[in-house]
Amino acid sequence: MSKILVTSALPYINGIPHLGHMVGCLLPSDIYARYMRMFGNEVLYIVGTDEHGTTSEVGALKEGMDVQAYCDMYHARHAKTYKDFNLSFDYFGRTSSPQNKEITYHIFEQLDKNGFIEERTVKQIYSIDDKMFLADRYITGTCPYCGYEKARGDQCENCTKVLEPTDLINPRSSVSGSSNLEVRETKHLFLNLPKLGKRLAEWIKTKEPFWPDVAYTIAQKWLKEGLQPRCITRDLKWGFPVNKPGYEDKVFYVWFDAPIGYIGITKQWSDENPSQRNWKDWWLNAKDVRHVEFMGKDNVPYHSITFPATLLGTGENWTQVDYLKGMSYLTYEGGKFSKSEKRGIFAEDAVKEFPADYWRYWLMANAPESSDSSFSFDLFASTVNKDLNGVLGNFVSRVLKMTASKLGEKVPSDGEYGDMEKELAANLQTKVNDYFKYMNEMEFRKAMNELRGIWVEGNNYITAAEPWTVIKTDEARASAILRACINLIRIFAILSAPIIPQTSEAMLSKLGLTLKDIPLLKGFDINKELSAIKGGTPFSVGEMLFERIAPERVEELKQKYGSSK
Ligand code: MF3
Ligand code: ZN
Repeated sequence: MSKILVTSALPYINGIPHLGHMVGCLLPSDIYARYMRMFGNEVLYIVGTDEHGTTSEVGALKEGMDVQAYCDMYHARHAKTYKDFNLSFDYFGRTSSPQNKEITYHIFEQLDKNGFIEERTVKQIYSIDDKMFLADRYITGTCPYCGYEKARGDQCENCTKVLEPTDLINPRSSVSGSSNLEVRETKHLFLNLPKLGKRLAEWIKTKEPFWPDVAYTIAQKWLKEGLQPRCITRDLKWGFPVNKPGYEDKVFYVWFDAPIGYIGITKQWSDENPSQRNWKDWWLNAKDVRHVEFMGKDNVPYHSITFPATLLGTGENWTQVDYLKGMSYLTYEGGKFSKSEKRGIFAEDAVKEFPADYWRYWLMANAPESSDSSFSFDLFASTVNKDLNGVLGNFVSRVLKMTASKLGEKVPSDGEYGDMEKELAANLQTKVNDYFKYMNEMEFRKAMNELRGIWVEGNNYITAAEPWTVIKTDEARASAILRACINLIRIFAILSAPIIPQTSEAMLSKLGLTLKDIPLLKGFDINKELSAIKGGTPFSVGEMLFERIAPERVEELKQKYGSSK
């Protein structure tokens, strides 16, 4: 199959992403998309902001902004940050778009028509002064368990107990502070998940061999525990008004329209690029599309149960997820990232401190895959210094400087490759095969390990071949060694491109090349690649690829971004 649809969980619009968000879904999806493109696949990579819901309303309220203006502002901020991180999405859209509204309405109508929507009367808190029903999180009061006075109706931030709004002592509205509240009955719409359970279970079975353990286990657990009907409407203003008579003053629940956003955003892309294929070629009765989703593990139930069930219930042939990559969490110096407590480095600041590639490499090399992992500036500096600067950067500068000073700024033509180069090629080919295998399996930590191993082979080779000694007695042989090394620079650039694209471009530009000149990775043959750059090709030494991070700088950063204590 050669059409690959790549999506990353759509980040919440409120607040700004930290490194955990980057490594949890955005970066791995980008790396996978880039990698798949390099094999000649037709890739569509879709991301956008998840904009509806209580958190946006509360966020806007806190900043004294209109919700729409608040979302516009944050959308631009997200977009800029991801661009700075070199995320290569084909389109960065919004769940609040007219396109998403249209598709959400359609999907809801289908579900309703097919009998999967039911009305239920629920008891909810109404604020007389605010003239509105209050969502659980809009109610503040004293926690009955720990006495914290600012506990929210859904959860106490202090002791983390999950609450019902009616549990709170002295409940009041977070909108106005009014305590003039009463319990009223109101009608809501529910998605009848139990009725879809059988079809869902059958569908999940077809996925068994293709889903990683985390996703499959979580989905099975939900099915075993029994599915409950889920409320898909809310008493809010910000959202898509429900397109059913009697419900016009309610909106769809954010988790109903957010995943539909993958489709809605594709339609945005399609509408804005008339030359592109129709969005339906990717989503509706689409042929040969493999859909790969990236997300933090807390998102897995929505993507393996609720959203697939929603699509199944339409009775239409929507593209479902084929592979679901769930990531664990990244902590900051062993604790939580927290904007309000000024602890942790956030993505927009990260790229101001160091080039995106430093972060991209560190984050993927330490990806929280089988378990959580922790960011610290010590670890970060040590990886940048050792792997990027020490292994990759030094190799490149050493080879080019030595060649330039001994033989001039052209790739040396003399001499032939011999046994050493045969051995180098054999060692590299094994590592490259493993690297490709892990990238295909989305085992990023293991893939990064192989990539580093590939760079190390270059260093081992030059150390063993000793061109600086050989040149004294046999210039032709030294010239062959250095030609092999220069070809290694090109090979390293190609293989590293999905992870550190800017560095790869910088490496190639020293050789007068760009990534656009690189042939597809299909059938990548080291022996052939080792002779890709011919003798006589001009090159330039240029600047070092990376800068070492000094211990004083590490201390400064720790001060600036806080420690977990
Ligand atoms: N906004 C959610 C989060 O950041 C993810 C939503 S994924 C979507 O956890 F598909 F539903 F949009
Ligand atoms: Zn509490």
